[in-house]
Amino acid sequence: MADPSDPRPAVLFVCLGNICRSPLAEAAFRAAAERHGADVQIDSAGTGNWHAGEPPDPRSREMARRHGLDISGQRARQVRAADFEAFSHIVAMDHENLAALARMRPEGARAELSLLLDHVPGREGQAVGDPYYGGPEGFERAWADADAAAEGLLRRIAGAA
Ligand code: 4NP
Repeated sequence: MADPSDPRPAVLFVCLGNICRSPLAEAAFRAAAERHGADVQIDSAGTGNWHAGEPPDPRSREMARRHGLDISGQRARQVRAADFEAFSHIVAMDHENLAALARMRPEGARAELSLLLDHVPGREGQAVGDPYYGGPEGFERAWADADAAAEGLLRRIAGAA
């Protein structure tokens, strides 16, 4: 849980269930932050609570594992009002998530909202497609999007070289 009095950048990645896309976005960004030695707090959450307490979907776990990352320790949770103070940046996977976040954002809260692909030059305004009901290619795309955004987002918020 990010501490609202902590001045370090803190990034929360948000999708619907917090078991497919945002765990991959969290993992790719954590790996980028570690590569750069950037001091950033990182978490993920879902706008829905159906999967609260569950580990990431096995297909996301496998995708992360193929890229050398173990996300099996992650547990899904729902976004809460306190997140809008605790995190400096809340990054949504798609427009529905972004709209839900905008609706629940307390007035004057510090968190800046964006879409993940806003951080990839030329792909601003695009969504990371929901892979839950589809085949493995959706998870490949979700990983590729997460990985593509990680470095740009890190540069933007943490000034990493
Ligand atoms: P996510 O994918 O939002 O990327 O975690 C989904 C996970 C679960 C559901 C929908 C999307 N669901 O309807 O349960």
